[in-house]
Amino acid sequence: MSPIGMVLESEECPQLKKVKRLADLTSFFKPTSVAIVGASSKEGKIGNAIVKNIISSGYKGKIFPINPKDKTIESLECYPSVLDIKENVDLAVISVPAAGTLKVAEECGRSGVKNLVVISAGFKETGHQGLNLEKELARICKENNISMLGPNCVGMMDTHVPLNASFAANFPPKGDIAFISQSGAMLVAILDWSMVNGLGFSKVISLGNKANLTESDFILEAAHDPVTRVILCYIEDVADGEHFLRAAREATSRKPVIILKSGVSQAGAQAASSHTGALAGSDLAYSTAFAQAGVIRSTTMAELFDLAVAFSRQPIPSGSRVAVITNAGGPGIVTTDRIEHHKLTMARFNKNTVEGLRTSLPAEANVYNPVDVLGDAGADRYRLALEKVMTDESVDSAVVLVCPTAVTNAEGIARVIIEAHRSYPEKPMFAAYMGGEMLAGGAHMLNVARIPCFTFPETAIAAIAGMSAYANRKSAGKPVVMGEIQGVDRHVVKEIFQRVKADGRLVLLGSEAARVMEAYGIPSAPTVLATSPEEAMEQAEIMGFPLVMKVASPKILHKTDVGGVKIGINNVEEVSNSFLEISENVHKYLPRVVIHGIELQKMMPRGIELIIGMTRDVQFGPLMAFGLGGIYVNLLKDVAFRLAAGLTGPEIEAMIAETKASTLLRGYRGEEPADIKAVTNIMVRSARLVTDFPEITEMDINPVFAYKQGASALDVKITVS
Ligand code: COA
Repeated sequence: MSPIGMVLESEECPQLKKVKRLADLTSFFKPTSVAIVGASSKEGKIGNAIVKNIISSGYKGKIFPINPKDKTIESLECYPSVLDIKENVDLAVISVPAAGTLKVAEECGRSGVKNLVVISAGFKETGHQGLNLEKELARICKENNISMLGPNCVGMMDTHVPLNASFAANFPPKGDIAFISQSGAMLVAILDWSMVNGLGFSKVISLGNKANLTESDFILEAAHDPVTRVILCYIEDVADGEHFLRAAREATSRKPVIILKSGVSQAGAQAASSHTGALAGSDLAYSTAFAQAGVIRSTTMAELFDLAVAFSRQPIPSGSRVAVITNAGGPGIVTTDRIEHHKLTMARFNKNTVEGLRTSLPAEANVYNPVDVLGDAGADRYRLALEKVMTDESVDSAVVLVCPTAVTNAEGIARVIIEAHRSYPEKPMFAAYMGGEMLAGGAHMLNVARIPCFTFPETAIAAIAGMSAYANRKSAGKPVVMGEIQGVDRHVVKEIFQRVKADGRLVLLGSEAARVMEAYGIPSAPTVLATSPEEAMEQAEIMGFPLVMKVASPKILHKTDVGGVKIGINNVEEVSNSFLEISENVHKYLPRVVIHGIELQKMMPRGIELIIGMTRDVQFGPLMAFGLGGIYVNLLKDVAFRLAAGLTGPEIEAMIAETKASTLLRGYRGEEPADIKAVTNIMVRSARLVTDFPEITEMDINPVFAYKQGASALDVKITVS
């Protein structure tokens, strides 16, 4: 049976099945009543703005302002404390100074309030004292089974309830975009921008310090929200990598999730002592996690919202073949370049389309993709071109470019594009109106008709690329994960680690690492430790020749440099001599370094040199590496990464295929292909090993020799915490 068949049985991803929403947020988003603790009658105070926002959003439930000094606020009866309200309160928004929040949260707990939005600042963002206050607040919420957003947030909105439980200046129109932001400032800026651009939202959530509810909870909630079509996030970190991966995987199986992640992850800050650790850049765990979970990563705010507009307003393309219709050559070429840049495809029109275009358009027009309807084109010529192109089955999406000439009728062309979109609603359409004043009316018409119209074609193509990537992932089907792996002995590994720890070491000796490999069914070169020449000779006779001998000391990184390695040893005399020679050499170079003995390793035939490694990310756990191995690993940097959590069979295959090493494995320049399945088997078993033992902080198997049949781990370095 193939290693993939053997260990990656195609059961459905348990992560998808198991994923559970931490809290039921129904009453959080659709409360029947809301209390505002710290409500104020004073104009200009946050406690006043929140009350006004809730009222003006059209909220239909009961509103209870709470302030011991007032009888009424904004004509609503005011209560001294939440304990004085005799009715059920589903949600409390807290806007009192940080020090007062604990008492309020406790009172909410006592009166059965299950949801809090804590606006107050002055928590972990202010330092140690604030952090302790925040921990205490989180503890109170946990004890009382309260779901809390914040603290230090702007609040939340649901336009469909409707409810604006925030102190933001704007309440956006109803829409199908859920926006989750770790930055309050970014959120209010976007809301203001969206008012001008007519962008609608379903939910808007300001995460604040994420002391209780996190981005993962809201991503999941939005994934199950029937009115949300696309989920947008701005985050600086994730609160819990594992939960995030599960939530994001589930969400992306339902709808697109687009994330702008700023800041640098902790992984890079960790001093890496392995090759794998050094190769994994600071942000790598995030980009790997996003890719594995099917999240579309945007790099700018502009791109985040361009993609949101595209996903919200247009259907997902069924493929990557793009048709371009333009009235000018230059922009057509720019667009073609961008299509190639994003690894999309210029649609190749079928014969009928080309013939149809030839008979309808002037002789000077280009009837191949990009279709050039020429500078003097009126709306009619665009109509003829669109009719032909949109009916072609080899076209998955279309971009219409318009440059302003003296005879361009921007609004007429907009009408034609809108008609075409109505006639072919299943194919996404985008426009680039490349100009300003002259084209503004037409661009506005398109946006009102929900056809994304950008100023430049690059934006349209980037949006199509994001949509195509999402479509490809969906069509790839459900992921499979590692099933139960046979032939794994955890006890052996546990015992080895216990002994290493008792010995006060962090790095395993080669012979210990070889036994770990053996316990996990990873084929490796037999390696034993000898502490005297006599023992070495005995071991050598059992192992057989030829042999390699190496000094055993985790303190010595470059063994060859200190005369600590002898290769091609063919008899017991050579074993005895080499033992003494290596010991002397090492003593001469490094007199103070304690050595554990000399290791004997079976000399293996050469194969294709690979590296399989792991570095542990603080957020996402084990990050697996695969690539070209040997001494030039750091120079060549031919390495692909994936998180071990939920690693799937197709992902391992894709990981191998991403590297140049895969070209060698497939048989380069007449060489025989190597046993890729055996390599995959080592990957899978290594991923299992580092998942089963969180104390493994780093692992390098370098090299792994891949043969025509089979593969073998040669040098294994395992570091434990
Ligand atoms: N129960 C009910 N009302 C209370 C209360 C309690 N336990 N404690 C205080 N209040 C009342 C106050 O008497 C006051 O009433 P008043 O307006 O009638 O005088 C009101 O609540 C507000 O308290 P006050 O002490 O005046 O605070 P404030 O309004 O100046 O500031 C915050 C409160 C929460 C807005 C402020 O502490 C804060 O954190 N600001 C920053 C918010 C922020 O930026 N969040 C993050 C965005 S990204």
